[in-house]
Amino acid sequence: MASVETLLWVGVWMSAFSITTADDNSVPKAENVRWMSLDFTTVLTWTAKPSSYSFTVQYATDGDDWTESPDCIRISDTKCDLTEHLIPYDMNYIADIQTEHLEADYDVENLPHTYSPKFNPFSESNISAVEFSVTQLNETTVCVNITDPLTAIHQKNQQLSIRDILKKDLKYKISYYKSGNTRKRDFESPTSTAEISGLDPGQSYCFMVAAYIPSRAKANQNGALSLEQCTEGDGGILQELSVGAWVGVVFLIITVIIVLVTVIALCCRNPNRNKSLQSTQLSAPV
Ligand SMILES: *[C@@H]1O[C@H](CO)[C@@H](O)[C@H](O)[C@H]1NC(C)=O
Ligand SMILES: *[C@@H]1O[C@H](CO)[C@@H](O)[C@H](O)[C@H]1NC(C)=O
Ligand SMILES: *[C@@H]1O[C@H](CO)[C@@H](O)[C@H](O)[C@H]1NC(C)=O
Repeated sequence: MASVETLLWVGVWMSAFSITTADDNSVPKAENVRWMSLDFTTVLTWTAKPSSYSFTVQYATDGDDWTESPDCIRISDTKCDLTEHLIPYDMNYIADIQTEHLEADYDVENLPHTYSPKFNPFSESNISAVEFSVTQLNETTVCVNITDPLTAIHQKNQQLSIRDILKKDLKYKISYYKSGNTRKRDFESPTSTAEISGLDPGQSYCFMVAAYIPSRAKANQNGALSLEQCTEGDGGILQELSVGAWVGVVFLIITVIIVLVTVIALCCRNPNRNKSLQSTQLSAPV
């Protein structure tokens, strides 16, 4: 009798054990935790097996207390926008992603959690490609006018630009080259408008701009490269023509010459020959 009872207990214990282990295996843990940050819009992302569990994100600066991110409590999503919370910008932040039951009335048991890598928005947020305009001031000088990219951060009803955050640390690298010449020159501008002088008069120049933050670590110094903008040289339309256009122009000129030669040749023949040729030409399908 006693042995049957023992066996029963062992059975119960074993099935309970197998249930817990199975449960344990299906509890998702946040993995591949990454910071994605562009122009100071910062989102924490992670991956997890699909399940009926949720996640709560906490963040802290070095050695400080944890704060729950109000928008990321028991979320089923695997990303959390922390843009508004990582202030001041020039601090190292760390996040903790806790796996939780969907319903709030479960107490926190030993569910898994994952720490994020450290992240400092001021020195690690990527900077997008800028827009800019180039105006010719005189024959040898142009003005490059750069628009500082906007962030998603608002302060006092004003949307901040990357200049409002990076201030003096923000510089721009302007690369330019003379049309048809591969040698690039670089100009570093501490402001968002720059005058570039010493250009060859009458030449077309092409410009590209990228944000440049020399105070950062090498890997994070350069913003994305802008599209290219070119000035028109004196050569005007001739200089701007592409190879295709040139082929077109040459083809057109050759056609005109052939037509002229044909017409002249026809006119200079004797009238009888001319007439018969004309009639055969007229009857031929065009
Ligand atoms: C910045 O951009 C690089 C290259 O695209 C990427 O590898 C990196 O993860 C980005 N960093 C952040 C914080 O988004
Ligand atoms: C062109 O303009 C720049 C700045 O306005 C000036 O310093 C330079 O002397 C001018 N050059 C010529 C050739 O007029
Ligand atoms: C630069 O461009 C902006 C907008 O395109 C304009 O408001 C500003 O006056 C320009 N600045 C200069 C110095 O040309």
